[in-house]
Formats: sequence, C-alpha cells, structure tokens
Amino acid sequence: MAQKMLLVFVSVIMGLFSYARLNQTFNLMPVPALVKVNAGRVGISGQFRVAVTGKPNSRMYSEASRFVRRLSNKTGIFLDMQGYVTSNDTDTTSTLLINIQRPGLLKLDEDESYTLEIHTGKIRITTVTDLGAIHGLETLLQLVSADAAGYYFPGVSIRDNPRFAWRGLLLDVALHFMPVDVVKRTLDGMAAVKMNVLHLHLCNDQGFRVESKLFPRLQQMASDGIFYTQQEINTIVNYAAQRGIRVVPEFVVPAHTTAILTAYPEFASVKKTYQLQRYFGVFDPVMDPTNEKLYPFLEKLFTEMSSLFPDDYFHIGGDENTGKDWAAVPHIKAFMKVHGMKTTMDLQTYFNQRLLPIIKKTGKKMIGWDEVLQPGLPKEITIQSWRGNEAFYSSVRKGYKAILSYGYYIDLIQPASYHYLNDPIPDSVKLTEIQKNFILGGEATMWSELVTPVTVDSRIWPRTAAIAERLWSPKTVNNVDDMYRRLDIVSLQLESLGLQHLSYKQVLMRRLCNGYNTKPLEVLVSVLEPLKIYERNEGDTMYTVFSPFTKLADIASPDQEVPRIFNEQVEAFLINLSTISEKEIRDKLILWQENNVAFKHLLLNSPALSEASLLSENLSALAAAGLEALQYIHDKKTADTEWLKQKIAIATSAKQQGGRCEIQVVNAIQKLVERVTIL
Ligand code: ACM
Repeated sequence: MAQKMLLVFVSVIMGLFSYARLNQTFNLMPVPALVKVNAGRVGISGQFRVAVTGKPNSRMYSEASRFVRRLSNKTGIFLDMQGYVTSNDTDTTSTLLINIQRPGLLKLDEDESYTLEIHTGKIRITTVTDLGAIHGLETLLQLVSADAAGYYFPGVSIRDNPRFAWRGLLLDVALHFMPVDVVKRTLDGMAAVKMNVLHLHLCNDQGFRVESKLFPRLQQMASDGIFYTQQEINTIVNYAAQRGIRVVPEFVVPAHTTAILTAYPEFASVKKTYQLQRYFGVFDPVMDPTNEKLYPFLEKLFTEMSSLFPDDYFHIGGDENTGKDWAAVPHIKAFMKVHGMKTTMDLQTYFNQRLLPIIKKTGKKMIGWDEVLQPGLPKEITIQSWRGNEAFYSSVRKGYKAILSYGYYIDLIQPASYHYLNDPIPDSVKLTEIQKNFILGGEATMWSELVTPVTVDSRIWPRTAAIAERLWSPKTVNNVDDMYRRLDIVSLQLESLGLQHLSYKQVLMRRLCNGYNTKPLEVLVSVLEPLKIYERNEGDTMYTVFSPFTKLADIASPDQEVPRIFNEQVEAFLINLSTISEKEIRDKLILWQENNVAFKHLLLNSPALSEASLLSENLSALAAAGLEALQYIHDKKTADTEWLKQKIAIATSAKQQGGRCEIQVVNAIQKLVERVTIL
C-alpha cells in the first residue's frame, strides 16, 4: 500500500514536472500548440542527412535542400554529404526523416499541421501535406542549440497546427514601390514565422504597379515607369508558392484610384484630367459607378489581373471613399435619387453589388475593407477590418467571413506587445462557435507612405513575428516578457535570412554622419522612436513620394530595446532600490549625458543632422537630471521644490519632438526625479 502511495506521489510530481516542461517555449516563435521535452538530443555533424518518404512534390525537395543549406550556414558545419535532397534520398536511417502524405494545396484551410519528434539519434517530421513539413523545418531550425559539445537539436516531441488559417502580411507596393528582391526577402521572413498570405496592395493614388497588356496606359501613364512586369508577378507568385505562401492581390476601387483615372479619366466621376498624387492621404477622385462603360472596363482589367494570381481571393479595396466627388456631380446625384439611395455609402454598395459578379466570373472570392460592410452587401464578400474591432465582430455576427487588421497596423510604430496582445477573439467579446468560425485570421499591414526598400524591413521585422505568433499559437501563449525574449533571438534569425532591419541602420548612419564615426548618433538614436500613429506625416512635414527617407526618423525604429530595458530597470529600481539596478541606470545616464559633446562634433560635418541637435541637448540635460535624482535617492537626501520644478521643466522639454522623433526614456527619468523626497 505504502509502495503504491509512493508510486502515485512520484507520478504526480513527475506530472507536475512535465507540465512545467510542457510550457517551455525554447526559442520558438510562434510557440507550437504542444511541446514535450524528451531525454536525449541529436548532435549535428557532417554526417547529417535528410530523407523524404511518402508522396512528396518538388517543393518538398527544394525546401528540404534549402533547410540543409541554412543549417550548414548557421552551424558552419560542412554538410557536404548531401548537396541537394532529391527523390533518391529515401534511406529511413537518415538523421532527419520527413514523411508526407500528399502535396499541399495553396488554399485557405489546407492542412498545415506537423509533428516533430527528436529522440537520440533521429528526427522525424510527419505530416499530411508538405506545407506542414515546411513549417516543421522552420521549427527545427529554431531549435538548433549549442553547448561545449557542439551544435545539437534538443529532444522534443511537438504537435503543432495553426490557430487561424489566414496569417497574412499586407505589403503596400503602390505608395512606395518595393522591388522583387524586397518582396522575396519579405516572403522568406514570413515563412520563417509560419505566415501564409502575402497581400499585395498594387495600386493607389500614387501609382498602378502591374503591367497590363490590355490597358498599357496604366503602366505608361500611371506608374512613373515603376511597376512589376507580368513576368515579375509570376516570379513573386512562384517564389511565394515555394514557401507555402498564397499571394492575394488588391486593386483598390472605386476611390484611391487617381492613378487609374490619370490613365483613363473617362471613368472618373468628375470629368477633368488627373495626375498622379504625390502626397499621401485620402483624396476625392473616384470612379463613376453610374457609367455603364466602367463595368466592362473593370471586368477586362480584373480578369487580366486575376489571371496573374492563382489564389482564390481577390481584394477590391473599397476603403476611404470621401463621397465628395459623387455628391458634387449632378448626374450622380440624380442617379442616387432615382434609385432611392440616401447616402454615398448606398451608392458604394450598389457599386460592390455590380462588382461581385465580375469578380466571381474570374473564379475568385471578393474581399473588401470594412467600409464595404453596409446593408445589402452580399454575404459571400469577405470583410477585412481596419477601422476598429466593431466592424470585425459585427461582420462575423452577421455571417460574413472576416480578417482582422485593426491592431496590426505595423506602419503606426506601436510596440510589439501592443500587437501581440490584440487577440482576434478576446475574452471580452462573446461569440458563438459558428460566429468564431467566420473569423479567418488576421493580417499585419505594412503601408508604405513613409518607407522605402531600404527601411521597410525595419518596420516589418521583428514585430511582425509577434503578430505571426498571435495568429498561429494557442490563445494562452501570451506572456509578453517571454515574447520579447524570443523576439530578440528571432530578429537575428531573420537577419540571417537576408532581412535588413538591423543592418540598414549602419548604412543610413554612415551617410548621415558623412563618415565612419557614427557612435554619438548611435547612442542618440538608440533612445529615439519615430512619431507614432499618423503623427509623423502631419504638421510642418508633409511627405511626398519624392521625400528623403534617410533621416533621423528613418534610422530610429519602433519598439527600441534600449528604452524598453531602461524603463524596466527603473521600474525595478524604484521597487527594490538595488545597487545593481542603480549601477545599470547610472551607467546609461552618464553615457547619455556625455554623448552631446561628441554629437556636436558630428554636426560640424553633417548639416542633415541639425534636426537632431535639440534632441541630443535635451537627452543630455534629462540624463543629468536623472543622475542628480539618483544621487539624492542613493544618499537618502532631500531636495527642495525649486529643484523639482527645474527637473520637471527639463523633462517637459525633453518630451518635445525633433526630427519627427521622440525620446523614449523621459517618463522613466521623470519617475526617478519624482521619487526624490522634497522638503
Ligand atoms: C486602409 O488603411 N485605408 C485600409
């Protein structure tokens, strides 16, 4: 009996132990649905071999070969035994054995699950489709570990599948064009974090970015010569398919069409000549839905464009129609009256109803931004929500399929934690299971008003990896500290793939500093973030497509690590007053205080940096105030109200923006100041 009790006791303890281990996230991002730690490991040596069995397709072999190259590059081990993984590689005693039942289809709801078993000496990836196997290989690469004995894969059993079927990234190539290479590296990054939809925003007021053979005026007159040839679109679509990623094209109508109307003004509501828009924002030009010739034009254009994109879905935009040009024209007003339409939104619904059969005829499913959700909208249209959660939940409650982008606007420079905690189905929202099933997933949106091919990676990565996790991993995976821990690691893995979100800074700083010495700028920039939400493109700086995006606000990136860690250190210090925290804080304050002298030298050689001079002075003064406060706290001395007033004034000045940036450590330093006892 006692022995049995002991056994029960031991197994309960073991159970708790393995439960704790179950929660291990290693450095995986996204965290798999289920992870169990096994005893043992698989050492990585030159003998490493991959075999594929089951019913693989050519994609499986080339992705397996790419895996071998990446593993070799990561570890520096010569994996020369196997240049390429081919159909000859079926030896089931190979280190890594992949078994797949069938090639995956690039369709919504395709099986992307995989199991990954790592036991001493052998690794097994078992899946239904090769798409699952591709995800499994990414997980395996993220598991590569090292210790004194060398590189190895830790023993684990993983069962994994995505929470949402639609895990997308919108890349806007209209406002600022992104060459094919940028798109390719973006796709590599997406695959690394198991995203599966690239939404290409292909035209807007600033340009139409795809070659049309039927309507060549579009690229000739409405692109500044900057567009993808149809061959290049083919290259992008194939590259994405190779990574298991669908490409959904967006051709926005009826508003945001200045470019189309520049080429074909006869389809405009207001009859005049149009020119490509050089600014960014919301403009009045809009197609005329009462013009019957518009529909055959759109049918031909969309049939041609949709033939370039094999995906089932086609996005027609539908956002940000001011309605002003409709309301301004007598024949449109008369049309609305005859048809009993009270608002311009009614007219837009009419337009969408006309559009739907056109899109269906091309064999596609139609998606629109949440503005299209109006009474009378056919249920088969999928809604992409961006203006708030309301439209999202009312879409699914009304029986529309929906994709969430609200809360995933990565162009708005918000921290990864904000996006990460934006769950598509929060506890606060009550939905039935049927309603939940209408939620396809979500999409991060990289609008390109303020980015160029040089800077765009720094706005997408690494934060998008946190969104990828939100859309893939179980809802219960929501520990922000652990997310940041892993995000730092994933950021370097993304860099290894060729993404330039870290390295571009050095390039821009050297140019801005006119030389190799960039250290003082680096110190300053490390505490700066660009103005957030829509603030950067307001006030005295209105950017155009021709503006230089090579300045302070472009080098500064979102969610900077230095202020994040500093803020945490100050929070901790104010609770525990530990000498370790105090030293870390003091070291940084000294660095920031002293930096201004060196920064002033840089200014002599770089007129472009002058917009940063006030920020540098403010940071220095702020750091000096922080040092004084730290000393008072350390000495347990009191200060007077005049001292406090002065320091608060310094903090207030430091909150002012400069060079379209803000200092991110003001609040933390102000908290130190406010901690000082005042007599
Ligand atoms: C949008 O951001 N206008 C969809």
